[in-house]
Amino acid sequence: MFNFLSFALVVGFIAAAAYLFRSKLNLPPSPIGFPVIGHLHLLKDPMHRCLRDLSLNLGPVFSLKLGSCRAVVVTSASAAEEFLTHENDVVFANRPTSTLFKIAGYNNTIVTVAPYGDHWRNLRRICNAEIFSTVRLRESLGIRRDEVRSLLRTIHAAAAAATSKGGSNLLELRPLLYGFTLNVVMRMVAGKRYYGEENVDAKEVQELIRETFELAGLTYVGDFLPIWKLFDFDRYIKRAKKLGSKLDKFLQGLVDENRANRGKNEFKNTMITHLLTLQESQPDYYTDEIIKGLVLVMLSAAAETTTVTLEWAMANLLNHPDVLVKVKTELNNVVSKEGRLMEESDTSTCTYLNSVISETLRLYPAVPMLVPHASSHNCKVAGFDIPRGTWLLINAWAIQRDPKVWWDEPEAFKPERFDSKESKMQHGKFLPFGIGRRACPGMGLAQIVLSSALGSLIQCFDWERVEDIAVDMSEGKGLTMPKAVPLVAKCKSSPILDNLVF
Ligand code: HEM
Repeated sequence: MFNFLSFALVVGFIAAAAYLFRSKLNLPPSPIGFPVIGHLHLLKDPMHRCLRDLSLNLGPVFSLKLGSCRAVVVTSASAAEEFLTHENDVVFANRPTSTLFKIAGYNNTIVTVAPYGDHWRNLRRICNAEIFSTVRLRESLGIRRDEVRSLLRTIHAAAAAATSKGGSNLLELRPLLYGFTLNVVMRMVAGKRYYGEENVDAKEVQELIRETFELAGLTYVGDFLPIWKLFDFDRYIKRAKKLGSKLDKFLQGLVDENRANRGKNEFKNTMITHLLTLQESQPDYYTDEIIKGLVLVMLSAAAETTTVTLEWAMANLLNHPDVLVKVKTELNNVVSKEGRLMEESDTSTCTYLNSVISETLRLYPAVPMLVPHASSHNCKVAGFDIPRGTWLLINAWAIQRDPKVWWDEPEAFKPERFDSKESKMQHGKFLPFGIGRRACPGMGLAQIVLSSALGSLIQCFDWERVEDIAVDMSEGKGLTMPKAVPLVAKCKSSPILDNLVF
């Protein structure tokens, strides 16, 4: 009896306190949650699907209490635009702090997660000057051309070897595509292909980057309940520390190598060498940590997203042979009829190829929830009060499949929908690179790499599905959205390769 009475009193007390101290703010709708954990129990991988399902009941803007953090989730194009552009662009240009990048991202100082302010602005300025400016993109054209050719040679040799042995020419694409994208950025940033090509397994670097994106997903409880970190039940901290120390060793190796070889031709014009020059005049700001952080972001942000997108694009094409034929015909008309290989300068003419890439990014955005944003101060958006420090999660994956704005079979792979400029016109409707001031600065580079690599693969090889079974399109987990099952395809070199030295 006593126990029952005390229990009823405690419950009554909590209910009364909750009523008295209930928020007077007009927050976005929220499901019923538990004390302390709030709605953490609702989060499941893949996060974009889980949050889209919640939005079906709660509406396009809803809020979640994730432990001690409040998050607002946005699933409509118009609300995404309202949150990330005009006067709200600055308010939401901040990022929440992340346990992973505190440990493995030099205390959250790297550009992807750095708080909005002078340090972040400076990093973006360096990225633009060193990698993304028109001049730098022109200077690095030779690197990208070389690496596309090298990818073609590797695939050509693998296909020829399989055919000569009478075996079936099956190819697992992911390691080849990862090698290609990583080499492109490595050469731009560090002046060489893989670090220690002879003695470090290139696969190890790929695995480190993959693990970074897997751990950076939104499911780590310690990001929302700091006490969780004390016990490390799930060994997350242990994994993050091991990852951080391996990444740091790899990055320090690149910096030291550039430092030791600054006079040599291949290291003269790299991003690291330029940063080492700045280090001489401002050693307190351009520390090795800042340089390593920039290299880490360039390598990981570029290699993972571009590889993921190329693999999805190939998977879509194998499941839609009619689209594959149409791209090949376009490439024949623009490039092959001149008896040469595709060049970057052809990418602007190959409009259907570009529509295939846009349609891939629409259905399979490499970063489906963008990178979380955070509000720097209290504000009112879409009629709701949003307190300072709120996480903003934009569900780009759901928005890009929303039947209200993508009315023509939104779940179907139809590159033709991008034939008209009008399909991209509504800003928040197509946002695979984000929008606003934290949007991806690598978009231009990504688009030319995607277009020239995918175009070259289609021009130079005939691709088919294995045993004509539909390619499994399940989505993997993490901050990025890789294919859950790596793509294996049948591949045969096209006759055009016999007549070309490449
Ligand atoms: C940020 C997508 C390629 C560098 C982002 C964001 C997305 C994205 C969605 C977050 C935007 C937001 O939070 O609002 C992609 C996709 C790519 C790609 C889909 C290719 C298919 C690249 C490349 C680079 C790059 C090639 C560099 C070489 C960055 C950086 C940021 C970023 C530095 C952080 C921006 C900041 O926080 O200020 N990217 N990206 N990305 N991306 Fe990309």
